[in-house]
Amino acid sequence: MRAVARAQPNIALIKYWGKRDTEQNLPAVGSISITLAELFTTMSVEFDDALPADSLVVNASENPAMLPRVSRCIDAVAGARRPRAAIASESNFPIAAGLASSASAFAALVVAADAAAGTNYGRDELAGLAGRASGSAARSLYGGFVELANDDDGIALSTLCPPSEWPLSVVVAITATGPKAVGSTEAMETSRKTSPFYARWVDQQQADLDEAREAVNSRDFQKLATVAEHNCLKMHSVMWASRPPMVYWNATTLECMDAVRQMQAEGVPVFFTIDAGPQLKAVCESAAVDEVCERLAATQGVAAVMVTGLGGGAGLIEND
Ligand code: DP6
Repeated sequence: MRAVARAQPNIALIKYWGKRDTEQNLPAVGSISITLAELFTTMSVEFDDALPADSLVVNASENPAMLPRVSRCIDAVAGARRPRAAIASESNFPIAAGLASSASAFAALVVAADAAAGTNYGRDELAGLAGRASGSAARSLYGGFVELANDDDGIALSTLCPPSEWPLSVVVAITATGPKAVGSTEAMETSRKTSPFYARWVDQQQADLDEAREAVNSRDFQKLATVAEHNCLKMHSVMWASRPPMVYWNATTLECMDAVRQMQAEGVPVFFTIDAGPQLKAVCESAAVDEVCERLAATQGVAAVMVTGLGGGAGLIEND
């Protein structure tokens, strides 16, 4: 009745932004991401009928605010008539790093809940369940380059390339450590309802997905860099044009973008991507990682840099 699972965050290169069904939390567009290696969330779920209610501890502190979403996710896996659960999660990276801690958390949660309840779902079904809790979490069930496609019933996940076959590195430049102003769930809905660019964003996504998939399949770094930066800036344009506008960048985010541009001009194989927060993620070929780290760490306003390679998907580490 107790299981522990581990999952890594992922970073989208072709972004999920907008929902086609808010009830089922189904995305309006497909996405392509990379799963990270050295950063992870460890999640334990213990079912016990003697408990008065579910409880959630995140990084050693009670977290009642997140509990309803976590309980709903466990209901989706184990059924609403399941025993009460004690849930504990621990991440080895700061939540303020803007690394989609919800993706690794919900991916690890569905794996742990499935094992503790003995439901034995397959990976695709678990991805669907994680995605209902947080769209990006579905991708953390898989390793390396991952595509999330929309299909008639929901979503379909596939690995485009395992991490060992194209071992890129990611350098995260931390440009601010406070909590973000608007969470992704709310911000996506504001974009869908108010941004004049939203419909075009959705229309164009398939072309970006096709281009990025081709780039991954042919290990074409320049092609991937071009389409990933375009897709990222297009998503932020949708946000900027929303009412109220949502601008997640700060001055240091722009300084980092400029540092990446300078490196590109010098021939360093690197590109940037930015999610719903101010941190810049630089994706580079492994040989360039020291240079990228040094240059971003030396960029004015950068508080810290974190480095990681690409890794495998969520997995079970204990099952009593
Ligand atoms: C900008 O997966 O956090 O990181 O489904 O509402 O929980 P919900 O949203 P979430 O959104 C992630 C948005 C993004 C892009 C991406 O990861 O694809």
